[in-house]
Amino acid sequence: MTERAASRTAILVCQGRAVADGRLGVGRFSDPVAMDLLTEAEREMVDLVRSGAVPSSFGPRIEYELLSATAEVLAVRTIAIDDAVRAAASPQLVVLGAGLDARAWRMPELSATTVFEVDHPASQAEKRHRLGDRKPVTDTRFVPVDFAQDSLVTALTAAGHDHSRPTTWIWEGVVPYLTPAQVAETLIAIAQRSAPTARLLITYPTPHRVYHYGRKAMQLLLTLSGRPNPMAREPQRSTWTPATLATLLATHSFTVTTDCDLQSLALDYGIEGKHRSLSADGHLLTADHL
Ligand SMILES: C[S@@+](CC[C@H](N)C(=O)[O-])C[C@H]1O[C@@H](n2cnc3c(N)ncnc32)[C@H](O)[C@@H]1O
Repeated sequence: MTERAASRTAILVCQGRAVADGRLGVGRFSDPVAMDLLTEAEREMVDLVRSGAVPSSFGPRIEYELLSATAEVLAVRTIAIDDAVRAAASPQLVVLGAGLDARAWRMPELSATTVFEVDHPASQAEKRHRLGDRKPVTDTRFVPVDFAQDSLVTALTAAGHDHSRPTTWIWEGVVPYLTPAQVAETLIAIAQRSAPTARLLITYPTPHRVYHYGRKAMQLLLTLSGRPNPMAREPQRSTWTPATLATLLATHSFTVTTDCDLQSLALDYGIEGKHRSLSADGHLLTADHL
């Protein structure tokens, strides 16, 4: 295992869900657990964004805008993925790069599903610490894996994943942090552990220039104003066009059934985006295994 700190972007997206809870996509989006997984310091900016009181000083204003934008993206992708998980109703759910995802703690619909939480060991240890003795709604197994060097197949097998039974796979907000080779290697493992009817849900960034420069500018402004930059140690390592990802998936017998950009989904869900340029690159695809 590499020595590495727990993911900070996982905390940022958890803060985004905490901001969105009860405010965005109401009736379709809800994550009441997100706030509980944050420290007191992490909740401060969440409370500020929820209050709508825009800070006047430069650094906090940048943080405020980053978190507001994150909340919009998170509400949209969570609604779409939750709906797909419910529709698939698989007996097994594997959450790849789970971060502070709380589906196994907040979705009663999963009570008959075995959930496998796969994440980098450092991030997973941090999550388990934050969870304390909070109980999941279902049989939930922690599977520490570094996609850069560990065998996902071996780890899932050891955790009791049954490759002959249907599985829904969630790969949400992780692909950008992996190299193209790591994405390809992980897909080989996913395919090996997938029965026919397995369903794979992936969010991924397209090579969108507005987003690329927007993200860089945001990071620069955070650094210049002396504010913490959650993306500092988690650089973006890959972007994908819908065609290149669909081609790669096809080589592993996955057929893309839907591929939507998050902005279109936001419009469908009636989520008004003030920060559309920051989600301009995001896509969510569904692929079924033959
Ligand atoms: C932005 S967070 C997303 C977390 C979660 N999927 C969500 O949407 O809330 C990125 C996640 O990818 C995981 N990750 C990044 N690189 C990884 C690697 N090489 N191996 C395992 N996990 C990795 C991090 O540990 C972190 O949990």
